[in-house]
Amino acid sequence: MTRARALINTGALDHNLRRVRQLAPNSRVYAAVKADGYGHGASTVAHALAADGFAVSSLEEALQLRFAGVQVPIMTLSQPLDTAWLVEAAARNIQPVVYDVEQAAIMESYTGPALQIWLKIDSGMHRLGVKPSEAGGVADRLANAPAVAWLGYLTHLACADDRSNVMTDRQIRCFAYALDARQGVRSIANSAAVLTRPDSHAEVVRPGIMLYGSSPLVDCTAADLDLWPAMEFTAPIISRHTVEAGEPVGYGASYIAERDTEIAVVGVGYGDGYPRHAPSGTPVLVDGQRCHLAGRVSMDMITVDVSAAVKASVGDRVTLWGSGLPADEVATAAGTIAYELFCRLTPRVSFEAI
Ligand SMILES: Cc1ncc(COP(=O)(O)O)c(C=O)c1O
Repeated sequence: MTRARALINTGALDHNLRRVRQLAPNSRVYAAVKADGYGHGASTVAHALAADGFAVSSLEEALQLRFAGVQVPIMTLSQPLDTAWLVEAAARNIQPVVYDVEQAAIMESYTGPALQIWLKIDSGMHRLGVKPSEAGGVADRLANAPAVAWLGYLTHLACADDRSNVMTDRQIRCFAYALDARQGVRSIANSAAVLTRPDSHAEVVRPGIMLYGSSPLVDCTAADLDLWPAMEFTAPIISRHTVEAGEPVGYGASYIAERDTEIAVVGVGYGDGYPRHAPSGTPVLVDGQRCHLAGRVSMDMITVDVSAAVKASVGDRVTLWGSGLPADEVATAAGTIAYELFCRLTPRVSFEAI
């Protein structure tokens, strides 16, 4: 019996990319596949997505994609530069992001094979990026640097998940002001902005979470947005029994059965990446029925009240998230976000692409 399993639905990935293209028809799509394709397997995702480019965090992540046969441009969002890696990046059509004045100085003094690079501008998030007031000067210097073959510009939005937040307007204006009338390819939009801010689409969009079928917006579900879940995370029932009214279930005896309760023990736990903080009441889909966690999450097991799923028996697989049970819903119950649920699956989970 396979324990915890993540089925990666390549058709859903493809569908979600089509949604991006419908929403941003005039933009190229650099799909964010950092952190191993948001935990879905970067190579699987990259091969399933006919994207124009990919965005990863580091050179190591970029090289993994190249070695897996991915040929389109790959940008590295948060990799500090050094000469050796710039040579490697140039040889492999990897596009570094220069994100502060120190990195710009390294890029300027580099005289190896020419590179296509991006300059990141801090339009208000204050994480990475050169100050708007410095952007013009840095851009001029980089454009004239000996090994810069092409220069694009990007920024990242802090609050686009909340469409009522005025910060997004401010950031879009700030980015435009920082670049003034400068020519060049621009990139602003993450998933939330792809969905809600056509004025941010520019030449290149960089969606991540929507490609995996989760909603980036606080006020919409993935279904509202016609996004399909790319991951079906399941595990088998390994035991089923009745717990009498008044008896506890699991560590800390934190859950007390209010009535005689049918409990299924499911072979998944925080050792697989299921969130330990998911409380009793977190939904689990059993035989098409909404059931709920009853008791604390253990390393290898969860306990589920399956009173609503009369026929569920040992060997049946339950859905922890996937179709019929959005990861966003489980994440909310566990006090986190779907991004984290996906990224935290451990090597114990068996992955299969369909
Ligand atoms: C710089 C940058 N661009 C794009 C993305 C994609 O964001 P999302 O997954 O919300 O679409 C991220 C994700 O964290 C990011 O850090």
